[in-house]
Amino acid sequence: MKAWPDNPFLQGYYEPITFEANAPDLVVEGEIPKELKGTFYRNGPNPQFPPENEYHFFTGDGMVHAFTFDNGRVSHRNRWAKTQRFNIEKRLGGSYFSGVNPLATDPKLLDFVLNDQQGVANTNIIWHGGRLLLLTEGFMPFEMDPKTLDSLGTWDFYGKLKTSMTAHAHRDPRTGELLFYSYWTNGPFTEGMELHRVSSEGFITESYAFEAPYSAMIHDFVVTDNYIIFPVMPLTGSMDRAMSGQSPLAWEPEKGSRIGVMPRMGTPADLVWIDADPCYVFHFMNGRDRNGVITIEACEFEHAPLFPYASGEMTPNTHPNMSRWSIDMNESDPKLIRQTIGDRGAEFPVIDSRFAMQEYRYGWYTSTDLKVPAPIPDSDFIYNCVDRIDVVTGEVDSYSFDNCYVTEPMYVPRSDSAQEGDGYVLDLIYNRDTNTSDMCVFNALEISAGPIGRAKVSHRVPVSFHGTWVGA
Ligand SMILES: [Fe+2]
Repeated sequence: MKAWPDNPFLQGYYEPITFEANAPDLVVEGEIPKELKGTFYRNGPNPQFPPENEYHFFTGDGMVHAFTFDNGRVSHRNRWAKTQRFNIEKRLGGSYFSGVNPLATDPKLLDFVLNDQQGVANTNIIWHGGRLLLLTEGFMPFEMDPKTLDSLGTWDFYGKLKTSMTAHAHRDPRTGELLFYSYWTNGPFTEGMELHRVSSEGFITESYAFEAPYSAMIHDFVVTDNYIIFPVMPLTGSMDRAMSGQSPLAWEPEKGSRIGVMPRMGTPADLVWIDADPCYVFHFMNGRDRNGVITIEACEFEHAPLFPYASGEMTPNTHPNMSRWSIDMNESDPKLIRQTIGDRGAEFPVIDSRFAMQEYRYGWYTSTDLKVPAPIPDSDFIYNCVDRIDVVTGEVDSYSFDNCYVTEPMYVPRSDSAQEGDGYVLDLIYNRDTNTSDMCVFNALEISAGPIGRAKVSHRVPVSFHGTWVGA
C-alpha cells in the first residue's frame, strides 16, 4: 500500500489503522467498576486506502471500535463498515471516490455514486429497535451485528425510509420513540426535508415532507417535551458549485440563520421560521421547554469550520463555545436569544440520556486546556479536556489530559434508578507521546479527580466522531 498523502487529517492521531483486531482482555490500570456491564461503540473515519482525490475527513470509510465492559474487564474489537463503496474499492484495490466533490469521482463509478444509499457509514452509531445502526446524514442507516461487528447492509425501516437519515436522531427516554429528519430529500443540495417518528420497536409510524428555507447542511436538531426545533444555518449546499468543481458546501453568512419551531405533536404545516444571526452548531447538548419558553444548550461556532466561503476561500479558524439559546413562543414574533456561557471551547456534548428533552442538570463535553499547544497544523486548539457543566449553577468541573486528545464522552448511570449524575463517564483518549489509546472511566460528578481506571489499547484508535452505550 502507498503512504498516506500529506494531509493533516491523515497523520498522527488521524492516521488510519490498517487492520481489524480482537483484544479480549485489555490491560487495566486503576479500577474499572464491576457494575459497568455493556458495550461502548465508537464510530469514525478510517479510510481503507490512501485517497487519490482531495480528502475531507468527514468522508473516510467508517470504522467501529467496540469496548465491552464485564465485571471489571474490558475487551476491544474493531471492524470497518463494509459498505458497497468499501467493497468496490477493496475489489479494485485502491481509492476511487472523491472525498470532497462526488462529481469528481472516476466517471465509470459516477452512476453508482449518484445512487449510493450507504455512503461511508462513519459518523454516528445508535441502538434502536434491537438494531445497531451506523448513521451518516447523507445516506440510509447501515446495520452491524452488535457482537461480531459484521456488516449487515442498508436498514430502511422495512422499506419505509426512502431517503437519507440524519446522524443525530433523538430518543424520548419516557416513550422510547425515536425522532429523526432527513434533508436534501428531493435530490442533492435541494431544500427537501422530512420528519420521521419511529416507535420504540423500530417501526416508522409517521413521516412528513417539508421544505427548508434554503439548502443547508443540518447536522443536529432539538426535541423538547412540546417542540421540535430545526436549526437551518448558512452552511449551504449548491449543485452549481458541485458542477463547477468547487466544494458544494460553503459558508454564506449573508443568508442568516433560520430556526424552524414546530409543536411536538404537530406537523411541518405548523412550522414557524425565526430569523436569526448567522452561527453554526454541529451539536446541541439538550433542550427543554417551560410555559412556552424553549431553552437549549448548544456548542456554537461563529461560523462553520472546515468549509470554505462561496468564493472558495477557506474560512478562518474558529472554536465552539457553550451557548444558551432561548425562544419565547408566547411572543407574536418569537426571537432567538443567544448567550455564551463558557470560553474554553465545548464540543461533543452528552447528557444522562434519561433526561433528554426535559429539565436536566448535568452535561459532559470536550474542551481545551489553552496552555497546551495545538499539535495539528491547521488548528490552534486541541481537545484535551473532559468537562462537566452544571447547567443550573454554571459550575464547570474539568480534567486536562495535557498532551492527549479526548473524544466525545459517554455517561452511564450506576443503575437504572440512580439519580442524575450518579454514574460513570467513559472517554477514549489518544496519547501523542506513546501513540496509543486508553479507554478511561471517571466518576461522573468528580471529573477533576481524573480517571479512576484505564483500559489500555496497545495501539492508536484514530479520531472518532460519536458513540453509543448498549447495556448488557
Ligand atoms: Fe455529529
